Amino acid sequence: MDRSLATLLRSLQTSEYTEDALRLLPTATNLLSRLSNPLNLTLLTSHLLSHDALYLQPIEITHSRQIFSVFYTALLRLIEDKQDPARELLRSHLSVEEWVKAVVKGADERSPRWRHTLLLGGLLLAFQSRQFEELRPNLRNKLEAALVTATNLALREKDVEVNCELAVIFVINHTFPILSDVHRSQVQYDLLLPLLVDATYFSKEGLEQGYWLGAIDNDIRQSSPQKFNWSSTSTTFKRLTEIKKRSLITALGSLSRLTAHCVDNVHDRMLIVHCTNRIADFARTLATSWRQNKLSEIDAKEEALYLDQDTVSTTLPTLLQLLRDTMFATVIILRSVLGRLICDPILGADNTAPGLAMQTLHILRDTYFIAHRFGLVSSSQYTFVNFTAIDILTRYQPQSENFLESIRPVELGRIPAHPLDRMRDLFFLNAAEHFTLTVSPQMSQELLFNAAAPYVDPRGDPRLGEIFEAAHSVMLAILAAPRNAEVATKNVPFYVETLLRSFPMPLNARQFRFAINSVVRLAAPPSPIAASMPLMQAIILDLLRERMEQASEDLLPSNPDLPLEREQRLSEKAILLLAIIDCLSSLPVQLLEEWLPLTAELLHKVKNPSQKQQCQHRLWAALSDGEMDVDRAVTCVAWWTSRGGREHVLLGEQPEEQDYMMSGALRFDNKL
Ligand SMILES: *[C@@H]1O[C@H](CO)[C@@H](O)[C@H](O)[C@H]1NC(C)=O
Ligand SMILES: *[C@@H]1O[C@H](CO)[C@@H](O)[C@H](O)[C@H]1NC(C)=O
Ligand SMILES: *[C@@H]1O[C@H](CO)[C@@H](O)[C@H](O)[C@H]1NC(C)=O
Repeated sequence: MDRSLATLLRSLQTSEYTEDALRLLPTATNLLSRLSNPLNLTLLTSHLLSHDALYLQPIEITHSRQIFSVFYTALLRLIEDKQDPARELLRSHLSVEEWVKAVVKGADERSPRWRHTLLLGGLLLAFQSRQFEELRPNLRNKLEAALVTATNLALREKDVEVNCELAVIFVINHTFPILSDVHRSQVQYDLLLPLLVDATYFSKEGLEQGYWLGAIDNDIRQSSPQKFNWSSTSTTFKRLTEIKKRSLITALGSLSRLTAHCVDNVHDRMLIVHCTNRIADFARTLATSWRQNKLSEIDAKEEALYLDQDTVSTTLPTLLQLLRDTMFATVIILRSVLGRLICDPILGADNTAPGLAMQTLHILRDTYFIAHRFGLVSSSQYTFVNFTAIDILTRYQPQSENFLESIRPVELGRIPAHPLDRMRDLFFLNAAEHFTLTVSPQMSQELLFNAAAPYVDPRGDPRLGEIFEAAHSVMLAILAAPRNAEVATKNVPFYVETLLRSFPMPLNARQFRFAINSVVRLAAPPSPIAASMPLMQAIILDLLRERMEQASEDLLPSNPDLPLEREQRLSEKAILLLAIIDCLSSLPVQLLEEWLPLTAELLHKVKNPSQKQQCQHRLWAALSDGEMDVDRAVTCVAWWTSRGGREHVLLGEQPEEQDYMMSGALRFDNKL
């Protein structure tokens, strides 16, 4: 036997401690790449795979990666030696193929299956990275098949060594992208999926359940009367940086794609339910831990005010980045879950679909503090997950009601002080808006209406802008649901009054016009609101007119939501008139006939020429751009052409009551 091989094997055998054994790996790598006797190659490999001191338990990815690298590097070096004439004397005499066969033979019954994956994966990846041309497809096929078999067996046998599945995950993650489709399809996803989810979210090499998020609280110190400090030298920050460097965490993206692929392919659908529940467990713990962390008490907009420099620029951003990556990974997995849910009749059946949709929404809610901060809610994958889950759940009334009950605001009827609770209210309201057609009128009133009510308060804090808008949407959705006739009738007067008091602050012009227009439309006959309150539309218009008479013509502050070029700054007075004009198309003909001249009259009460012109344009558009249905359009044309409307609008001349100018041409001519 080769002298140096004998020495190495002896050292290996006498090394009882992992540190000692691992120190021999560079020598082993070197020897492997140079040996020419197949038997020696097999022998060395077999030793490397079976020597327990190299595999300290519980198994860690870092150590496994070192073994993986031995085979990976040895093969690369062999290939390089073959290409370099200067190494003629040193290099192995075996062909690459003979060498591979001899090494693979060392993966024998003396070592457990999971360690074989390290060898096979290392070789495959080395071939891939050298784009080695001479490898016969046959051999590559064999390697891939052997890797898949070893992986499946390792997953099935659940080798006794603690956490060895982490090493298998490490290998499969690295090699999966290079496996052929045939071999990929042979991986037993049913075994892999639960392991992947556990490894990512719960294992000591993964996100460890997220408890560390709460522990950070211990290191947050008051550094001045107003400011808090989470130092970059604190234990919890060091822990966080350690977690971020873990190989499963740096690869969250590729890991989640692999998990998603498993979800797409598992046979046993219940595994998908199980894994979604596991992720929901994780998300719940993460949310609880975040609440235990003082940082959650600070509104994102006010961080610079309450946190010192170190925290704002170093520690907090590092934390947020990890949370964001976690969120991304979760959405990628959920996208596959919901994708399967809508295509798979078994999963989509009544006994699984609503539960799965509900769990998904719980996950989105528990991680909303992350998604909202990073604007992930508008990414297409997030939207798909969210929208599909809501769409499915709303088909089931009892489950929908259950869900809304389970996420009800902590202090119904009050705006909570904790930013996290307000964030949850925002989530609640955004979701609730889509359930008004599903849940009972009683729930609409008692839960949804009461949850929205504190946020539509006109004296509200303008910083709550987003929740404020969501609350108005819920109100309108409640009023619009056909089942809610009674609830709507009861609440319309309150709501209209609120709207009028909320403009121009906190409601901006766009929100105000939209809301008024919606209510007037809902109050149009033959709606239930019209049946019980036939005068509602007229009352609202009268209220607007009264307001307009006293309103100021000063320009309102510009709306930060809009891009500057689209911004048309208007006065309160002009906006009230525009709101009236918006409503014309939902008035019954009789009321419309009454309001056309009234609108023309109001137009001339706007003194500022440019504002007046904008209102004229809007009126013209309302009359002529197809907003009206046929009956109303005929009424408008008649008014415009033969009842003095044109003169009234353009010149401010009031027609005499009887003085109808019979004109033959029933058509508008735009002279505005
Ligand atoms: C925050 O903590 C770090 C580390 O303890 C310290 O160096 C720094 O001065 C602290 N900042 C303030 C403003 O107290
Ligand atoms: C997973 O594989 C990708 C390449 O496919 C790699 O970039 C990533 O580091 C791997 N992750 C782990 C945990 O090994
Ligand atoms: C989910 O989608 C609905 C409907 O598009 C939307 O109103 C809601 O804001 C979304 N929720 C989240 C958390 O983004």
